[in-house]
Amino acid sequence: MRVGCRPVNAGISSSRLDVPAANAHIRTDMTDNSDLFTAKMAAIGFAPPELPDGLPPPEALEAADRTSRFWTSDHAGELRVGTPDHRREACKMFRETFNPYRPAVIAWPQLSPDMLRRVTSLPIWDIAVHTEGRARLRFASYAAITPTPEIRDALMLNAWEENRHKEVLSNLAKTYGIALGPEPAYRVPRDPEWMYLVTGYCECIDSFFAFGLFELARRSGFFPLALVQTFEPVIQEECRHILLFANLVAWQRASLPWWRRIVFELRVAAAWVYIAWERLVLARSMKSNGMGTGQDSNFTMSSAQAVTPVEIGVRDLMTICLEENDRRFAGYDARLVRPKAIPALVRLGLFLTRPWTRKRRSDDAGRIDEGSPAGG
Ligand SMILES: [Fe+2]
Ligand SMILES: [Fe+2]
Repeated sequence: MRVGCRPVNAGISSSRLDVPAANAHIRTDMTDNSDLFTAKMAAIGFAPPELPDGLPPPEALEAADRTSRFWTSDHAGELRVGTPDHRREACKMFRETFNPYRPAVIAWPQLSPDMLRRVTSLPIWDIAVHTEGRARLRFASYAAITPTPEIRDALMLNAWEENRHKEVLSNLAKTYGIALGPEPAYRVPRDPEWMYLVTGYCECIDSFFAFGLFELARRSGFFPLALVQTFEPVIQEECRHILLFANLVAWQRASLPWWRRIVFELRVAAAWVYIAWERLVLARSMKSNGMGTGQDSNFTMSSAQAVTPVEIGVRDLMTICLEENDRRFAGYDARLVRPKAIPALVRLGLFLTRPWTRKRRSDDAGRIDEGSPAGG
């Protein structure tokens, strides 16, 4: 689930933000519902994992949580990117860190009327459900054309987990009386590799900011801790997803012959351009729907104001995102590749804005000095 993956605008008066999400406008050849996803997964030979019955005891939940966030390969020595060993261990990481929670038995905490209002008025629920609905089909479609069995298995599990996120969100909405709108017609992509790249990089961006926003929500106490903790496995699952994605892309990049690699790199670059364009369209669409001001193109900052009662600056929020990103990946084998682009861009942004921040601090200090009464 990508709770933080789409804009949350604290100033929005509407209780629902339902604008076309990622790639909704792309024409493809089939419409979808949950049956189509289930049929697709069955057609490519996916056997759903067995999940424990009933509500697991706290020790079992803790053990599953530990399993999902710490993993070290037993492969001795270097794991050179692009080798069969690298591919095998990346897929093994994904398989062995699986968390077998069952959405139907999640114990949703009782909320006070005030908390309930806060949760139900967040305008993210529809778009989060739709995003998961699309992601599951896109991962399943890419799995269907992937010739390497271990990669196909990992991608199918990834798709299944996206569907589980969708179930978690639907159950949350049902529990707290959030009225979800009708779902769009999900479509099987005509070009599964392209859509896999777009969806994977979208997840890398969204998860990075979601990690920080989630931590901000936890620290602020603006939402009950029990509810925040209920979502923890889902957020860590997104961390595993982007870890798998980063490694599969790195493996593919390194294992392709030079002429195919050029094509692949062009597709990767086009995916980034496409995502940037798509988000500009989304921001414009929100604005024209009267869902806020031009400032709303700054989704992450708007989201931050929705999860904390105090004002938070961009630099502070970005610092939290970086810290959380490092913390969430710290438990996985250091020889695996991490998603690098967004953390590197944010680090660069923080570095470049340092002189400006120092100047502002000294200006503020000067103003305080001028305003203070003379001592002695
Ligand atoms: Fe998800
Ligand atoms: Fe995901």
